[in-house]
Amino acid sequence: MKLSRRHFLQGLAAVSTALAIGHGHTASISKRHTRIIPSSNVQIPAIGMGSWLVFAIEPENEAELATREVVIREFLTQGGGMIDSSPMYGVAQDVIGRCLRRIDDHTGLFSATKVWTHGNRQGLLQMEDSRLLWGLPRFDLMQVHNLMDWETHLPNLYDMKDEGEVGYVGVTTSHGRRHEELIDIMRSQPLDFVQFTYNLLDREAEEYLLPMAADRGIAVIINRPFQRGGLFNKFSRYRLPKWAADIDCENWAQFFLKFVISHPAVTCAIPATSRVDHLQQNMGAAYGRLPDTAMRKEMVKYVQGLRV
Ligand SMILES: NC(=O)c1ccc[n+]([C@@H]2O[C@H](COP(=O)([O-])OP(=O)(O)OC[C@H]3O[C@@H](n4cnc5c(N)ncnc54)[C@H](OP(=O)(O)O)[C@@H]3O)[C@@H](O)[C@H]2O)c1
Repeated sequence: MKLSRRHFLQGLAAVSTALAIGHGHTASISKRHTRIIPSSNVQIPAIGMGSWLVFAIEPENEAELATREVVIREFLTQGGGMIDSSPMYGVAQDVIGRCLRRIDDHTGLFSATKVWTHGNRQGLLQMEDSRLLWGLPRFDLMQVHNLMDWETHLPNLYDMKDEGEVGYVGVTTSHGRRHEELIDIMRSQPLDFVQFTYNLLDREAEEYLLPMAADRGIAVIINRPFQRGGLFNKFSRYRLPKWAADIDCENWAQFFLKFVISHPAVTCAIPATSRVDHLQQNMGAAYGRLPDTAMRKEMVKYVQGLRV
């Protein structure tokens, strides 16, 4: 029997229906790159943060937890928005929640997680479990992870959105998996967000997914913008081209991320890191000049010309 969400959620604290996106902490943050979510016209920062593996620590270990707290704190201070997680990422949501509880000012946080299970009841229980782990009144975005049992979960997510229990609804996939099914879902479902892989070495999404998202007015989250770190392994021993300075790239992380967020259909990239120095590099991509179409072609040509 289908569990009624109303019954399931009975007794929970009232949730805010406001789509509260922060406007930054300092004057300079107002200059960061933001993108509009087509379904709401709300702006979010173009650089977010992932949480797969990098938050796989022992949550009770104070030293390890403190390092991740610094990463999240710095992310928010530098004007970051979306933090993306999933019940699939082990203790990541627990770690995020513990860190957020230690940070007084969450202004600007755009909380995004996923449902990753089969079945109606299991899905509802899992989403509530995630909410409690993060310690938030509601998620800004709830996504169906890797399209798992999406036929069951999406109707619940639309109901939750209607009742202000989540801000937006999306689905995810990664590294080229199930793109045909994803395209069908993007065609037939009223999604706010879609998430898939795109980076300098994996540009398959340019063919169908990115144009279709733009066409359908679906916001796009890019996962694996560093190819799980593979781009650094391949290219970081090389110097950046001189002209990288023309798009305000001081390091490879910014070169990789500016390529991603300069695609006109991309809303937000979610690089993951366990290190505050890497986070600072990544957040640098949220500022300064971005490549135009011709420069984007040069970026592809440049990395293709390097011996890997
Ligand atoms: N199907 C899905 O829904 C799905 C699938 C895949 C990913 N995702 C989401 O997308 C997020 C991003 O993808 P990902 O984590 O697979 O890969 P990624 O962000 O492309 O790469 C992460 C790796 O890059 C390294 N890194 C980050 N910043 C760096 C820097 N400035 N310099 C050098 N190394 C750096 C990190 O190591 P350090 O810790 O050493 O910085 C980490 O090993 C995930 O965390 C997850 O939230 C979702």
